[in-house]
Amino acid sequence: MFQLRCTVRNCQATLKLHEKGLTCPHGHHFDRAKEGYWSLIQPQDRKSTKAGDTDTAVLARHRWLQRGNAHELMKSLKPWVTQALACSLSNSTSVPGPPRILDLGCGEGSFGPALFGGYAKSYCGIDLSKRAVRLAARGWPDATWVLANADRTLPIHNESVDCAVSLFGRRPVSELARILKRNGKCIIAVPAEDDLIELREKTQNAGHRRSRWQTIVSEFGSAGYQFLEHQLWRQQMNLDREAITDALAMTYRAARYSQQSKLESVSEMKVTLAADLLLFARTT
Ligand SMILES: C[S@@+](CC[C@H](N)C(=O)[O-])C[C@H]1O[C@@H](n2cnc3c(N)ncnc32)[C@H](O)[C@@H]1O
Ligand SMILES: [Zn+2]
Repeated sequence: MFQLRCTVRNCQATLKLHEKGLTCPHGHHFDRAKEGYWSLIQPQDRKSTKAGDTDTAVLARHRWLQRGNAHELMKSLKPWVTQALACSLSNSTSVPGPPRILDLGCGEGSFGPALFGGYAKSYCGIDLSKRAVRLAARGWPDATWVLANADRTLPIHNESVDCAVSLFGRRPVSELARILKRNGKCIIAVPAEDDLIELREKTQNAGHRRSRWQTIVSEFGSAGYQFLEHQLWRQQMNLDREAITDALAMTYRAARYSQQSKLESVSEMKVTLAADLLLFARTT
C-alpha cells in the first residue's frame, strides 16, 4: 500500500501495515474502517470550518461521474499523467518502485482508477468527507484511501510523491511542495470561467464569469514550482433533468431553493462544461 506517516502530534513515524491495522514504532495504531479506508484524522484536524463536501454533493458528483460526464476530461488529463509517471520511472535518483501518486480531495474516487489504473498499490486518495472515501474505497479497493484534512499537515513523508493531483479540490501549495519529490509533477484542475455558464445564467439571471487559473499560476510560482503547461478543456453537453439537478447539487447551486425553482420547467438543456488544467513541476 501507499506509505503513510503517523498523524499523532509530533510523531510522524512511518506506519506499517499489520493484520490488525496500521501501527507506528511508537505504538500508535489506526484501524481500517470496515469500508476499507483509513481514518488518520486527529481531533485537532477536525477544526475545519467544513467537513468536506456534504453527502448530497458527494452523491450528486458520484451519479454525475457514473454517467460518464467526465470521460472527455479524463482523456485530456491522461497525457500529463503518462508524462508524470514516465518521468518518475526514468528518474535515476528516485527510490526504486512504482511511482507514488497522491490525489488530494479525491472525492468519490472515480478519477483514481481512470487516470492511474494499474498503480493501485502506490496510489493514495485523501478526502475529508466520509461518504466520499467510503464510495472511493468500494470502487477501487486495492488503492489506499484516507480520511484526512488537506488543510492540515498531510500524513505523507517529505519528498516522497512523484505525481500529485488536485481536481477541483484543495490546493495546499506548501504542503504539496513538501511531499513532492524534486521534479515531481502536480496537476491541478479548476472550473473555467464558462463552466456551467448556461445553468448559472438561468439560475442567477447573470452568470458570473471568473477565471482562476492565472492566480493559481502566480501562487505556485511564488512557492517555487515551475509552470509547465495550461490547457482549457471544454465540452458542450445536452443535460437531462436529472443531470441538471446533479450539476446544481454538486456545485452547491442547489442550496437556494429560489434558484433551483427557476429550472423546474426545464427538461433538457445544452450546457458548457469547462475546466482549466495546469501542470507544474516542483523544482526547488
Ligand atoms: C468538487 S469535489 C472534487 C472531488 C474529485 N476530485 C472529483 O473531481 O470528482 C471537492 C472535494 O474536496 C473535498 N474537500 C473539501 N475540503 C477538504 C479538506 N479540507 N481536506 C480534504 N478534502 C476536502 C470534498 O469533500 C470533495 O470531495
Ligand atoms: Zn506514531
